[in-house]
Amino acid sequence: MTDLAPSGREFAESSRPRRTIVRGSGARLWDAAGRSYVDLGATHGVGNLGSSDPEVVRAIQAQAAELIYLGTGYSTPARTRFLERLTGLLPPSLGRVFLSNSGTEAVEAALKIARSATGRPKVVAAMRGFHGRTMGSLSATWRKELRAPFEPLVPEFVHVPYNDAAALAAAVDDRTALVLLEPVQGEGGVHVGTTEYLAAARAVTERTGALLAFDEVQTGIGRTGRMFAFEHAGVVPDLLVLAKSLAGGVPIGATVTSAAVEARFQGSHHSTFGGNPLACAAGAAALERTVRDRLPERADRLGRMALDRLAALPRDRVREVRGRGLMIGIELRDRVGPVLAALEERGFLALPAGASVLRLLPPLVIEESDWSAGLDAIDEVVRRG
Ligand SMILES: Cc1ncc(COP(=O)(O)O)c(C=O)c1O
Repeated sequence: MTDLAPSGREFAESSRPRRTIVRGSGARLWDAAGRSYVDLGATHGVGNLGSSDPEVVRAIQAQAAELIYLGTGYSTPARTRFLERLTGLLPPSLGRVFLSNSGTEAVEAALKIARSATGRPKVVAAMRGFHGRTMGSLSATWRKELRAPFEPLVPEFVHVPYNDAAALAAAVDDRTALVLLEPVQGEGGVHVGTTEYLAAARAVTERTGALLAFDEVQTGIGRTGRMFAFEHAGVVPDLLVLAKSLAGGVPIGATVTSAAVEARFQGSHHSTFGGNPLACAAGAAALERTVRDRLPERADRLGRMALDRLAALPRDRVREVRGRGLMIGIELRDRVGPVLAALEERGFLALPAGASVLRLLPPLVIEESDWSAGLDAIDEVVRRG
């Protein structure tokens, strides 16, 4: 058998050595030398509850002692509880859930459901959108350098400018199965979808008989200041795609749709580990904690505070600051790499979104003092240039 990494290195690993992180708690991470860092996004939007949330840990430990795995042909109390918690947070029309293990898988399910339920081939997605890296989701992802080495991708995917209702309306027709959008684009630079745009997407899909999917892999579970970002616009999609922080850090994906769409679905779709007891137990605990501790409201408050402060960043260094809740993008006039490195030296781990956007996705539970210190460090590093 061929080993993809015979030297023990990971496949296609970058030449820059990775820092080894050994422990996390809340928004704090520790490296092997015992140095602590504040997570401003380094858990890639998975850590809405921070690292190793004690309630999630207890749920995983209890579930692991009871039953780690069971085939999807059976129910488990953990699965039932998780599905009840999740659908209890959603509008009544979104009551059918397909469980998988990652964002890209959840997007793949949405693509298959839409093509099958409508009998149509075409998918309309947005420029600067990101939906994953398997062949279907990659076909919906915009960035050329991610797509080009793997072409030909799945046919009948088109991309239109984001936040442009007229361009969307012109692209959607009676061959369109699905319009797939992020309510706030994450990887593409943190661009907030306007209420008018998301409402226009709803209107054009209803008019043409296409389905509307919101990819909330990054925006979901309180990140933008509401439990789901679509709530800001009051636009309910036909399909909702969730992953990342849904199970408090344990791999999970969920594709949620309506009974009406389910009734039109032909064929089958399945995932061996989808809905496994461990992920469901973690997911139920994560949702319970998010609701009980009103974490979306906290994200809203801390996000507003940050946007107020970041508005004072000098215009000769910063083009624009955008965001909603604790999903913030600072578009720099220069490349973001040196800023990320300088923040890391000061003990703050943040993320890029493209070449020039500094992206902040801190845990919703971040201590206010850590958040404030992070914003101070950003101010200092960005001003220094
Ligand atoms: C909006 C969105 N969709 C899909 C994905 C893919 O998720 P995963 O990496 O879990 O496959 C991501 C990952 O960053 C994402 O941000």
